[in-house]
Amino acid sequence: MIESFADPMTEQPNQIDKQAHRFSVAPMMAWTDRHARFFLRLISTSVRLYTEMIPMNGLLRGSPERFLRFTMKERPVALQIGGSDPKGLADAAKMGGEWGYDEVNLNVGCPSDRVSSGHFGACLMAEPTLVSECVSAMVEAVSIPITVKCRIGIDNMDTEGSLDNFVTGLIDAGCHTIIVHARKAWLKGLSPAENRSVPPLDYDRVYRLKKNFPTVNIVLNGGIVTVDETAKHLEHVDGVMMGRAAYETPYVLSDVDRQLFGMKTDTPSRMEIANLYMAYCEREVAQGTSLHHMTRHILGLFKGCPGARAWRRYLTENSSIPGAKASVISEALKFVEDGLKVA
Ligand SMILES: Cc1cc2nc3c(=O)[nH]c(=O)nc-3n(C[C@H](O)[C@H](O)[C@H](O)COP(=O)(O)O)c2cc1C
Repeated sequence: MIESFADPMTEQPNQIDKQAHRFSVAPMMAWTDRHARFFLRLISTSVRLYTEMIPMNGLLRGSPERFLRFTMKERPVALQIGGSDPKGLADAAKMGGEWGYDEVNLNVGCPSDRVSSGHFGACLMAEPTLVSECVSAMVEAVSIPITVKCRIGIDNMDTEGSLDNFVTGLIDAGCHTIIVHARKAWLKGLSPAENRSVPPLDYDRVYRLKKNFPTVNIVLNGGIVTVDETAKHLEHVDGVMMGRAAYETPYVLSDVDRQLFGMKTDTPSRMEIANLYMAYCEREVAQGTSLHHMTRHILGLFKGCPGARAWRRYLTENSSIPGAKASVISEALKFVEDGLKVA
């Protein structure tokens, strides 16, 4: 389902593929690294994946390999960047395009002190003109879509007019997909974790945003934990982004391909996924990656199944032993194999 229209800034045809954002897993620092993304891709072939947020300066001044390396199997995958300098962001977006990412996303939703003092993340919601300059420079620099992830507001900002104004600036700058975490961020007084649970969710505000800007791809994020809930939200918006639930109970994604994308293929069982991931870990360990950097992402695979606790404990205790091999995963599987027979 692709809609074509002229981008008012560049007069280049710009395409949005609404299916592309129908369901995605949120960018999460320290969680959605390349190993986690590879693992999640084994569960769903359709879900759109996002990197952790990469600060623009780290990308431009550090080693791009360290930040940008990924395997093509992860695709479709979007690179998320944090920053507020149009030229630097354009250069960073260009790098993302050259490395083969499918999208570059600008983070305008992170409320942490460190991010705010670097002048990026959610604090930029108070500077819509600067954000549209950033987006415009990024759109000019690459041919892949530039998207934005934001909140419904920050601090005492009014979530009606100010949010509409913010979004108008993004559209004028050439951004056609906006991911909205449906709660405000309080920049003073709440920790990043509290900012993901204390300010109340306001899904209706995001639904209204879609009504106000019907041609824009609006993706809803925040507090969504099941595919059934997702399907209900999709009656009001173009896409849903799931964060913590997808990481903590990853097998929830096993319903995505069939239920949300109408695919007929059978999803692999948890056991099959664990074995496929073990083969990946074997290759990575041979190249020097520590096993525990990879097994930490699969602790929730058997959540709710008999033996899940023993699986977690065995992986946690044995993956960080120096020289640990991928076979730790098959050893841990014995606990759940036994458990599943009882289920
Ligand atoms: C550990 C963790 C790290 C996060 N890091 C990022 C990040 O790098 N960029 C970002 O835009 N949001 C980040 N978030 C916020 C999520 O993308 C998402 O907006 C938030 O968790 C709400 O969605 P959920 O209720 O489905 O988890 C992070 C969330 C968590 C739990």
